[in-house]
Amino acid sequence: MLPINKPLLGVEEKEGVLKVIEGGIMTNSSPEGGPNVRAFERELARHLNARHVVAVNSGTAALHTALLASGIRLGDEVVMPSFTFAATAGAAVLAGAKPVFVDIDLSSYNMMPRAFKKVITKRTKAVIPVDLYGLPAEMDEIGEIAEEHGITVIEDACQALGASYRGRMAGTLGDIGCLSFYPTKVMTTGEGGAIITDDDALAEKLGRIRTHGQVKGNDSVILGGNFRMPEIEAAIGRAQLKKLPGFLAARARNANALKEKLDGAGLVLPEVPEYCRHNWYLFTVRCKTAAERERFMSRLLEGGIGATVYYPTPVHRIPLYAGLGYGTLKLPASERAAQTVLSLPVNPAVTEKDLDRMAEIIKKTKKNP
Ligand SMILES: Cc1ncc(COP(=O)(O)O)c(C=O)c1O
Repeated sequence: MLPINKPLLGVEEKEGVLKVIEGGIMTNSSPEGGPNVRAFERELARHLNARHVVAVNSGTAALHTALLASGIRLGDEVVMPSFTFAATAGAAVLAGAKPVFVDIDLSSYNMMPRAFKKVITKRTKAVIPVDLYGLPAEMDEIGEIAEEHGITVIEDACQALGASYRGRMAGTLGDIGCLSFYPTKVMTTGEGGAIITDDDALAEKLGRIRTHGQVKGNDSVILGGNFRMPEIEAAIGRAQLKKLPGFLAARARNANALKEKLDGAGLVLPEVPEYCRHNWYLFTVRCKTAAERERFMSRLLEGGIGATVYYPTPVHRIPLYAGLGYGTLKLPASERAAQTVLSLPVNPAVTEKDLDRMAEIIKKTKKNP
């Protein structure tokens, strides 16, 4: 099966891991982190043109830490799209906040700024726009609305490393940005994440929160946890970061070729505004109906193509959230997307021949449903 995404690791990552083992420093519990963590943060900050990067042990931990650092208190409201991975909402709940779900724009699958504006109350403390599939959300409009109301913008760029918006890198578009290095992402550290900010005081606070709020040990004045990135993960990240431009170029080549091959196939293809660069973490098409999507998906899977649905259920309808009373919310674009989207592999391991096969299966299925 051609997987939708997979980690691409080589000798450079192996060498990095061996060096850590030989050196014997596996982690460092100071707010600054160990030598590989610090180097990874510096290198990633340079890549993003950001002032500070704080590496943590997952994208979820990045969001959780960002929310804690923003001073979220029990019962505060955090606005976010429902059409996202469950971790966006889970992090808010873990921080004691109440998620407020809003609808998306079907042309980008990202949060509608107008919908955000409509749900703001006195309790709204943060908004988490998600750069879904690797396309940045409408961050300028969202940022303007947030600023007017004194709301912190936490960009969930977990899927969007390498994407950009009006010349700025995804992850640097809000007050705080969060990345994930889960193995299916455009680059990996095994498990891992990072938090990005240009605010010196906030960066210091984030560093403390990732290690129990402590500076020297047993001196916490703020709540934190163990969100530290291990040295081995940071060493893998440093090797992956060097390969990232090549990975992204291969994805862009595949995505552009697939767009051409699917032209006229009767699917809604991904749209990229001219002021954005997509990182092509996921190449997502939209089918006419749920039944049509099922047909495409089963034929593609039979043909060895790992077509996958991200996400079949908007978060407000996931049992946990439906049980909390969100189930009756009406978010029509999110529901429609959940029923009809399908993601196709464009990762760097995908070949031109694979892309031809995908287009052929889709066109054949369209002709003979
Ligand atoms: C949109 C989004 N937010 C948050 C996360 C959480 O990241 P992680 O799996 O590294 O905890 C992910 C990744 O899986 C994601 O796709």
